[in-house]
Formats: sequence, C-alpha cells, structure tokens
Amino acid sequence: MNILVIGSGGREHAIIKKLKESRNTEKVFCVPGNAGTAFEAENINLEVKDHENLISFVRENRIDLTIVGPENPLTEGIVDSFKDHDLAIFGPSKAAAELEASKAFSKELMRKYNIPTADYRIFTGLSEAVEYLKESKHPIVVKASGLAAGKGAVVCETPEESLEAVNNIMSDRCFGSAGDEVVIEEFMKGEEASIFAVSDGRYYKILAPAQDHKAVYDGDRGPNTGGMGSYAPAPVITAVMMKKIEETIIAPTFEAMRKEGRPYTGVLFAGLMITPDGPKVIEYNCRFGDPETQVVLPLFDGDLADLAYKASTEGFDSNGILPVKDNHCLCLVLASGGYPGKYKTGFEIIGLEKAAETADIVHAGTRMSEDKTVTSGGRVLNVVCTGKTLNEAKKSAYSAASLIEFEAKYNRTDIGDKGIRYYEN
Ligand code: AMP
Ligand code: GLY
Repeated sequence: MNILVIGSGGREHAIIKKLKESRNTEKVFCVPGNAGTAFEAENINLEVKDHENLISFVRENRIDLTIVGPENPLTEGIVDSFKDHDLAIFGPSKAAAELEASKAFSKELMRKYNIPTADYRIFTGLSEAVEYLKESKHPIVVKASGLAAGKGAVVCETPEESLEAVNNIMSDRCFGSAGDEVVIEEFMKGEEASIFAVSDGRYYKILAPAQDHKAVYDGDRGPNTGGMGSYAPAPVITAVMMKKIEETIIAPTFEAMRKEGRPYTGVLFAGLMITPDGPKVIEYNCRFGDPETQVVLPLFDGDLADLAYKASTEGFDSNGILPVKDNHCLCLVLASGGYPGKYKTGFEIIGLEKAAETADIVHAGTRMSEDKTVTSGGRVLNVVCTGKTLNEAKKSAYSAASLIEFEAKYNRTDIGDKGIRYYEN
C-alpha cells in the first residue's frame, strides 16, 4: 500500500515509523510532516483544509489509505470528503468526531447511555453559570465545550478560581466560540489513563493502556500542556480493570454512536479517571493521543497498516484486545523553555545521531534549515525507549536525552515514576 499520513507532530512520526515496519507498506507520504518524518516518508507541502486538492494528490499518487493524525481535519469533515470519492481513510466522520469537538454532546451521550463520567451541568449563559458555581462544592472543573487545543479544562479549587475561569471562557472568550457552551463538572479523584480502541463502526480492537503527563512541571504541577511524556502499559490498568473499562465504557460508547446514527470508525481515545468508584470518562478524543501513540505503537505486536486499512474498509469480525509485546515503553518529551506559554524557535539541535544509537528519536516541532535540524514548536522531540522494566526504559530514555542539546531545552525529570511505584510495591 501507498499510505498518506496527515499531521506534523510526534504522533504522526510515530505512526509512520510503525507503518514502515509493515510488509504491507510500500511508500509513505506525509502532509505536511516535520524534519523527522522526512527520513521515513516523503513530506508534501499541501493545504490540509483544501480537500479537493488533497484528493487529487491521493489519486495521482495511487494512495491506498490515508491516516489522519490531529482532530481538526476530522472535525472539519475530511473523512466525509474522502468517502464521497470512495477513498479509504482512517478516522471518524464529522458527525462521529463530535465526541471530541463538543464536550456538551459527549456528556449528553454518556448520560443517555449510562456511561460512567463526572456529574455535570451545561450552561450557555454566564449569569446562570455564575449562580450555579456560587452554590457548588469545590474543587470543581470548568470546561469550554468546543476544541481548545487541550487547554479548555480548568480545575478550580475555590469559588474565586471557578468564577474567574467561567468569566475567561464566556465573557473574555479566551477560547473563542469553543466557549459558547460551558460544561461545569464534578471533580474526580484518582489516577488518569488513556485507552485507545480502533473501530470499523461495529467491532473494536483495544491497544495497550498508557499514561500521559499533562502538567508542565514535575509532580504534575503547573499548567497543562499537550503532554510532557508517557509510558505504556499503565499498571493502574490491570487485566480486571481493562475488562471493566471495555464493558462499561468502550463497548457502550461504540454502541451508543451506532444507535445515534453516527457509527464511529477510526481510533477512539478515552481519557479516563480511575476513581475509587471505578473507571470514569474524563473526555473522549477522536484520534490517537500525543505523546501516548509514541509508546502504544511500539508495544503493538501487529501490523498497523493492516489494522488501519481493515478498520477503514472491509472491517473486523470480532471485538478484542490487540496483542501487546511483553515490554515497557517510555517517551520523554524535550520541549522549548517557556512552553506551554511563550517560547522561541529556530535553535539548532545537536546530538540526534548519538542519541539515536540507543533510543528511538521521534520528531515533533522540528524542521530543516539548510542542512541543520532546528526547533520549530513547543514540544520539539520525543525520546522513546523500550525495556524489560519501566525503570529500565526510563533510565535509557533519560540517558539518551542527555545527549541532545538545543537552546532552552526543557523536560520533566519524573516521567514514568507513578508507574514505577506500582512495580516497587
Ligand atoms: P480534558 O481537556 O477534559 O481532558 O481535561 C484536561 C485535564 O484536566 C484532564 O487530563 C484532568 O487532569 C483534568 N480534569 C478534567 N476533568 C476533570 C474532572 N472532572 N476531575 C478531575 N480532573 C479533571
Ligand atoms: N496526550 C493527550 C492528547 O493527545 O490529547
């Protein structure tokens, strides 16, 4: 197969690396890609929003399958456009991607189908929201309903904080129209996990559970980022817990979407809180996670090209848990100092070849400038290592990461520690 991957982050580079292992893969193209994807794929500079042009490119290059990385093209209907032209594409339709695009939609769906999640109220008017917050127990979580690049949820400890959050979203409109509706929900205590299930619209296949590290500083402190590191499998998800997640969350979600006339194809990402009352959904995403993909795919003991193609075309014939290698995988994100706030780019990156001797270097915010690789984003690189234990994977990743240098390089020092604690006790 010739395959086109859409996106330019670490997730897309990790997808391309896995596709290249497949005997089914002939050539891979990436629109637009980064300095890393250029090694395994051919980067193509096309406008993703221009579906007609993209479709012409797919036809001219005899592309058999397109895989969409980020949420925006999905919520803008790229899958619908490709299907109108009978082209195989991996991802949900615009109607199914509402699961991520509208938290109000996903919360109502969970309530209707009894899928466990935090109790909530939806508001479209500021004064009603303010009244409600004044009477509510804190901590409480205030969320813009629409897409806000992972920054739309604010955990508020006090009424002062929650009133400020709702004012920022609804009055100052800090997330634009994403804040037209606000979801205010109960704060859930527990440990987070990311579950990925690939579906053809009817049957699903579950990948290894992972854990992200969303906060910018050690100890999960500071503002949320896209993710500062990840590891898989996540020991908080035991086999028993996975079964419960499958039965109470994954299967009912796909069934609900079918009943609503929005069958879900592609990968469903359920962000979960493992609470004392069992697993509950924090949010759904309509795509692979970044940086979870960087650790989930290396552990998948199977053929990604085949899996994605089947999900997008003929389908599966049963539900199941996909085979996972008996290893641990850890991804450390190297970021630009200042991220997720303001940061500078354009700095030369050195040490990549040396680091690649012992780690898999997955590029995120990088680009070529003449013959140099330079930083071009907040999250710059992912250093990914596999080991027999999580501790071993962590040590290898940190040791390889120390060989890479660029101005204002920043990383957390405690990626994986939450998981390692499980194995020590
Ligand atoms: P979201 O954008 O909905 O995934 O939320 C971002 C982050 O905020 C999550 O990964 C959690 O760490 C936190 N969060 C969101 N909702 C809740 C909740 N109801 N209870 C506790 N933490 C939450
Ligand atoms: N790592 C979280 C996300 O991809 O949204």
